[in-house]
Amino acid sequence: MSANLIALSERLTRAEKTAFDLIGDILKRNGAVGHGDLSDLSRATGIPAQHLRTISEFYDELRPADDPPPRVRCCNGEACRAAGADALTADLGKRLDGNLSAVTCLGLCSHGPNLSLDGRVVTADCPDTVDEVVEAVREGRQLSGPEPQNPIHFPAPAQPCILLRRVCETEGGRATDYPGEGYAALEKAMAMTPEAVVAEISASGLRGRGGAGFPAGRKLEAVAKSPSPDGRRFVVANLDEGDAGAFIDKELAERDPHGLIEGMLIAAHACGAREAFIYIRHEYPYAFAALQKAVDEARERGHRDCAIQLVKGQGSYVCGEETSLLRSIEGVSPQVSLRPPYPAQEGLYGCPTAISNVETLCNLPWIILNGGANYAAIGMEGSTGTKLISLNNQVRRPGLYEVEMGVSVRDIIFDLAGGMADGCRFQAVQIGGPLGAIISGTALDTPLGFEALDRVGGTLGHGGMVVFSDATDLVTVARELMAFCAHESCGKCFPCSIGTLRAVELLDRIATDGLTGERETLLRDLCETLRLGSLCGLGGMAPVPILSLLNHFPDIWPRAGGGGHE
Ligand SMILES: Cc1cc2nc3c(=O)[nH]c(=O)nc-3n(C[C@H](O)[C@H](O)[C@H](O)COP(=O)(O)O)c2cc1C
Ligand code: SF4
Repeated sequence: MSANLIALSERLTRAEKTAFDLIGDILKRNGAVGHGDLSDLSRATGIPAQHLRTISEFYDELRPADDPPPRVRCCNGEACRAAGADALTADLGKRLDGNLSAVTCLGLCSHGPNLSLDGRVVTADCPDTVDEVVEAVREGRQLSGPEPQNPIHFPAPAQPCILLRRVCETEGGRATDYPGEGYAALEKAMAMTPEAVVAEISASGLRGRGGAGFPAGRKLEAVAKSPSPDGRRFVVANLDEGDAGAFIDKELAERDPHGLIEGMLIAAHACGAREAFIYIRHEYPYAFAALQKAVDEARERGHRDCAIQLVKGQGSYVCGEETSLLRSIEGVSPQVSLRPPYPAQEGLYGCPTAISNVETLCNLPWIILNGGANYAAIGMEGSTGTKLISLNNQVRRPGLYEVEMGVSVRDIIFDLAGGMADGCRFQAVQIGGPLGAIISGTALDTPLGFEALDRVGGTLGHGGMVVFSDATDLVTVARELMAFCAHESCGKCFPCSIGTLRAVELLDRIATDGLTGERETLLRDLCETLRLGSLCGLGGMAPVPILSLLNHFPDIWPRAGGGGHE
């Protein structure tokens, strides 16, 4: 990296704001970003207007608009859809003269369907609440009263409790206080050499919880060993959690923010980082506030070896992808970057960077306190430890669960969560967000583990589970998931940017004219092109839900009848 670039990156990370921050400031100040605002910003800063526009257009929240955004936003994520969001949106659309917009996942998927009014989340599951929202909009007032929360279900006393253990101590409330015992795990880690910390984490067998399942110890080792152009290394916590139906990282951050901070500081010691970031989606205001408070508290208590900054996402799903996220922190256009080099080699500002999911990092304090071997003894071969699972409101006891890896999907849904909610009959479950497979009843006995789920055409992903009753039209779900991918595509590679659009068109055609042999062949070919030709997981995994429905739910597809033709 050139001296100029190093100087620039130091200015940007230590003192000055990025173009992304500056546009975010406009949103905060004015409630919207206008075209004129970007021209003014360009004149004031000397940043080319086109550069500002490119960044601004990328994010749903920063997209230039001349009118203020609608006050009501209806969630169109799969969990809310399974709970009746489409009917709610249609009804509200009529009553509010179309003055509403969509948001994908507010992170309260154990309730639903959800909407937000002036940023405040409301579960609109009964006519009275919908009337109240309409009245509040007409009268220009806000709603009061407590917002819904996701229930937390703690493991039975004989079961391992690693991630919820500090939440247990506070009986499920929002726990933002500095833990009474201090950062005991961090103190223990600081007394060890970085190599010994990495060895302990490697011995635990912990694999990343963000979706790809990469070994956490190997990532830290790679960051520690990769040469840095100026000696800097970074730790980044990925709290973008854009998977609709997942509220795992949200609950960890809100209820045990110090667990994440401690995990990040342990990771920083292990890989030699002195700067760290938490990238957090804007739909999680309570998590943001809890983490900001925890970062300040940790600093006040003397944990100053690594400075942690919070960066707010602005409504882009692909920014959860690691290279896109790093570009977003840098403030440039967050298109996905080609790998290699991997972030562990050349990440933020070209320096070695350990970017990890929040749940991954929250495991580190327990591993250091109790030893990697004890962690590895929990779970199953290749998938050690416990996993947090979030469940939507189609089951009797929705909420967040900590389960030992290896437990069957059936046990989670039908034992722990009490089976289907009254009046609902199980049809399918999607595990791992919008890029995850939709699995049928025949695969329910699969153990929860990376390879075990892969073998039945499933995915563990990040662990959000959305259960669908037989009232849900899964072909429409598949169409909407593909439309979501088309909307979120970063546009860098054509198989994804064009292929997702063509797939939506084909699915629309199938919905009206039926699935013929020819259309199925075309759809499968398109899926294969996306899988093999896409640069990142968004395009590469976009076909997964469709393929799972073609392979395991042949009877749900409309067949070419009267109007259909080959
Ligand atoms: C489209 C897309 C979105 C992603 N979103 C997230 C996310 O919200 N949170 C996350 O931790 N990982 C997400 N990932 C995975 C990250 O790229 C990366 O693998 C992960 O943050 C690494 O952390 P881990 O090793 O702890 O799993 C996403 C990947 C893709 C392709
Ligand atoms: S697969 Fe899609 S999101 Fe990923 S790089 Fe290609 S265009 Fe961008």
